[in-house]
Amino acid sequence: MCGIVGYVGRRDCTDVLIDALSKLEYRGYDSAGIAVFENGSIKVAKSKGRLADLEKKMDEEERPLGNAGIGHTRWATHGEPSDVNSHPHSGERVTIVHNGIIENYKILKEFLVSQGRQFRSETDTEVVAQLLDYYYDGNPLDTIIKVMHELEGSFALGIVFADFCDTVYAVRCESPLIVGVGSDESFIASDVPAILKYTKDYYLLEHNEIAVLNNDGVKIFNLHKKEIEKELKTADWDMDAAEKGGYEHFMLKEIYEQPTAVRTTITPRISDGLPNLEECGITYDKLRNFENIYVVACGTAMHAGMVGKYIIEKLARIPVTVDIASEFRYRDPLVTDRDLVIIISQSGETADSLAAMRLAKNLGAQTLAIVNAKGSSIAREADMLIYTHAGPEIAVASTKAYMVQISVMYLLAFELALAAGKISEDECRRLTGLLQQTPEYISDLLEKKEAAQYIASSLITADSLLYIGRGLDYALSMEGSLKLKEISYIHSESYAAGELKHGTISLISDGMPVIAVATQTALLEKTISNIKEVKARGAKVVMVCRDSYEFENDIADYKFGLPDIDDIIMPMIAVVPLQLIAYYTSVLKGNDVDKPRNLAKSVTVE
Ligand code: G6P
Repeated sequence: MCGIVGYVGRRDCTDVLIDALSKLEYRGYDSAGIAVFENGSIKVAKSKGRLADLEKKMDEEERPLGNAGIGHTRWATHGEPSDVNSHPHSGERVTIVHNGIIENYKILKEFLVSQGRQFRSETDTEVVAQLLDYYYDGNPLDTIIKVMHELEGSFALGIVFADFCDTVYAVRCESPLIVGVGSDESFIASDVPAILKYTKDYYLLEHNEIAVLNNDGVKIFNLHKKEIEKELKTADWDMDAAEKGGYEHFMLKEIYEQPTAVRTTITPRISDGLPNLEECGITYDKLRNFENIYVVACGTAMHAGMVGKYIIEKLARIPVTVDIASEFRYRDPLVTDRDLVIIISQSGETADSLAAMRLAKNLGAQTLAIVNAKGSSIAREADMLIYTHAGPEIAVASTKAYMVQISVMYLLAFELALAAGKISEDECRRLTGLLQQTPEYISDLLEKKEAAQYIASSLITADSLLYIGRGLDYALSMEGSLKLKEISYIHSESYAAGELKHGTISLISDGMPVIAVATQTALLEKTISNIKEVKARGAKVVMVCRDSYEFENDIADYKFGLPDIDDIIMPMIAVVPLQLIAYYTSVLKGNDVDKPRNLAKSVTVE
């Protein structure tokens, strides 16, 4: 979604803004712009397209030159991607950039139009710029506070006033915003990677806080205009985290970071061979009495929840419902104070997941968040919190975040099962040991990239394909299929293998690829019957199964072999070939792997 940056200091502001925005490209965007104080007035440059298009435009016209300003990457919501709808937006004396949604913008716009104001763009953002301008009485802070009382929605703003040269104002109303503090310079940004090159120290703005950045430093106020003392945080990510480090794409780098991410996530949560989540506020006692578990999330995180459902139900025998957050929040869910609601989110800011968590809390449920981004809204509001330690995930298509999310679901399932008396300590130690071995298996599989490349080369001409599997393999198929469609733009669906013949098998035509995930021993014969059904109808079958499994070529055309490990832990490794196949298909198609069209990394609107 949209990215905001801002700078006050001594460097060339345009350079800093463009560089910082490039670190937010992963959020997804379709246009970009900056506003810089140049010789006492605000100079705006903006353009539809990528940052490179903006740079080209600035080279052709004039590159703003100054030491303070704001910048933005826009992911269109109100109005198509175009030069005019790009941010910044200006009134006469105020220029702003904005992330999020102004829910009551229509009423405000009508009011402003009735006051003779004219609008250039279709955005809700311009309404805020015009409203600030309408109320502006020479005092920026008073004006911002007045306007914040009138705005509804969740948003973050970067603001500059023409009368206050080299001063940047920043507002957080729900949508995340940080204020970076360097020596003799300060920054605003939607996310930490934007500022890492310059400083690791930052303030995390809270809801309804306003920051004022100028050459005297940073001050933060609440809506009562009272200055607030805040704790200065230090990012524990290093610069390399926001760089590709020799890999062609962030996605590939992140796939290769998975063994380390898993180790870093699970090792501190295992003691004496058993899961120990006390540091996260989770004790065996707390886990003992839940009647139902709901897992609520979006996209890939929801698929991690699907794996969690299978393993929790299998081991702990507690019913688990997996919900898409945008459905959960509007379906009047039957959640009670006897239930546990698990929210999984990489960013911790996904609007639907956050709203779903708040709803669950209102219904009296205990909430447990599994989140990657430190200090994010979901992390801060949950009753219990397990951070995944994947480090920043930059590629839009999630890989390492998914991997660590499922690793945490395993730990949780083991602990729930032990707490419920469904497994013995010995069995729990065995299972935890299996989980601890997975990083090595993942590393071995990453050596088999040629196999994934070969399969990818056979997929690039396909218009459509299917992923099939049963049980845990079905959960994995969902993620494999999502990964492929996100970045290759090839239509694909995941299907429970046994359900195919109830409709979807009619889609199979000669040469249509079908990726069959078949890692579950007890279901292998059943899945093979389903594979034969599609093969008999002309499908080209790729089987992801144990290397040791030998089959006739009337079953599959190609096998991606996996090591012989216990069925229950298979998802931790079987997802790797699915990620690699999606990645190489996208590369071979020449797509923008890290920033696929239309997608955003952090979805902060409904
Ligand atoms: C977006 C991203 C997905 C992600 C989903 C949920 O759609 O493109 O990769 O899985 O949001 O995001 P979250 O940050 O809540 O895990």
